[in-house]
Amino acid sequence: PKITYIDYTGTSRCVDAEDGMSLMEIAVNNNVPGIDGDCGGECACATCQVHVDADWLDKLPPSSDQEVSMLEFCDGVDHTSRLGCQIRICPTLDGILVRTPAAQH
Ligand code: FES
Repeated sequence: PKITYIDYTGTSRCVDAEDGMSLMEIAVNNNVPGIDGDCGGECACATCQVHVDADWLDKLPPSSDQEVSMLEFCDGVDHTSRLGCQIRICPTLDGILVRTPAAQH
């Protein structure tokens, strides 16, 4: 699957991913800026927020309670916000587009 990350300046990066990897792991492995993943994907650091493009939002599984509570620690959260470490890539998500928040750069 392919994932597109757009940073706060509008720069777009399209990377290849493997099913089962999280949006955070894919970003870190490909040096995509704006996603740190300090806790290694444990849903405990809130440094992996992404804004999911509106066309993809309803294709995602719902957030866990822990994800919802960690998102409260992120800046600029809105209804498109998710934690990148909690979204695992599967064939349905091929082509997904997410934006990284300025506060994480
Ligand atoms: Fe820490 Fe996602 S990597 S909350």
